[in-house]
Amino acid sequence: MTTQEYTFRIQRNTPDEKGGMTSRWQEFKISAEPGTTILTCLEEIKRKQDGTLTFRQSCRSAICGSCAIRIGGRTRLACKTHVGKVAKDGLVEIGPQNNQPVLKDLAIDISNFFQKVRSITPYLQQGSESATKVTSTAYDQVNHVTQCILCGCCYSDCTMAEVSKEFIGPAALAKAFRFVSDPREGKKSDRLNQLSEPHGIWSCSRCTMCVEVCPKEVAPMEAIVKLRTRGVAKGLTDSAGARHALAFHGDIQKSGSLNEFTLMFRTLGFLGSLMETDMAIHLAKKGKVPSPFPHAVDGVEELRRMYQHLEQNPLEVETKAKEAVPE
Ligand code: FES
Repeated sequence: MTTQEYTFRIQRNTPDEKGGMTSRWQEFKISAEPGTTILTCLEEIKRKQDGTLTFRQSCRSAICGSCAIRIGGRTRLACKTHVGKVAKDGLVEIGPQNNQPVLKDLAIDISNFFQKVRSITPYLQQGSESATKVTSTAYDQVNHVTQCILCGCCYSDCTMAEVSKEFIGPAALAKAFRFVSDPREGKKSDRLNQLSEPHGIWSCSRCTMCVEVCPKEVAPMEAIVKLRTRGVAKGLTDSAGARHALAFHGDIQKSGSLNEFTLMFRTLGFLGSLMETDMAIHLAKKGKVPSPFPHAVDGVEELRRMYQHLEQNPLEVETKAKEAVPE
């Protein structure tokens, strides 16, 4: 394969004496084959052009997760990303992960991220809910989520982590699902209770960024949705997120369309809705006034039959597996 010229535009971050950070962009030219990894290119820049360029790496095999950085607008593993796939007109833009403090250049402080992972009690606990029979369906669920290498790609590109520093984040929640779905776990209900609190499963906005960027196809958002389903099934519905989901569920099942007129009241309650009066007035001025009497859509009977089937086979919905059995 022939080599090509690439320009690496790298964000250089340098801590200053006052505790702040000075940022600038620096360009490096490099010749590489399109199949060369970004990590190899960075190493070459460091070796031949600027030894002060700082970044993390270890396994070079998409296993340790330490080389996750922003490449071409997305967080990816540098050791798994080929330069020819991400370069635009020969240009590759590189920066540190989002949503975590930068230490220097592309290296970030990962302590807060791992503190959130630790907060979900990342080990099996003894308790009254543990079972000894492990079905292959349950094994598949656990096994799928354990593909996570805690690289932080999902957390870096999570839109909710950007606006809420307290949000526990997709990686920690996917790990939490790993324990909730493990038949051997003895405290599933306690876990679901904790995860249903503010900044937990109901804070995810379902933007799907975590699914898109995960280099191991863990699909954290799907794990979060399954945690929500299990939480609601356990009666954990005393949160705006759960009430919102149940309002959607009820409306669509009933008529196939959403009753937006009453949705806010059912989600936030009377006092919570009062706080949103400004937004309601703003929408009304723009002519967005939903009808208080939504009518049933065509084919609503079919929709109700689908609901009925899904409600009778909740784990089949989760796993799409024939073996699915209620726990
Ligand atoms: S260096 Fe270990 S995942 Fe990239």
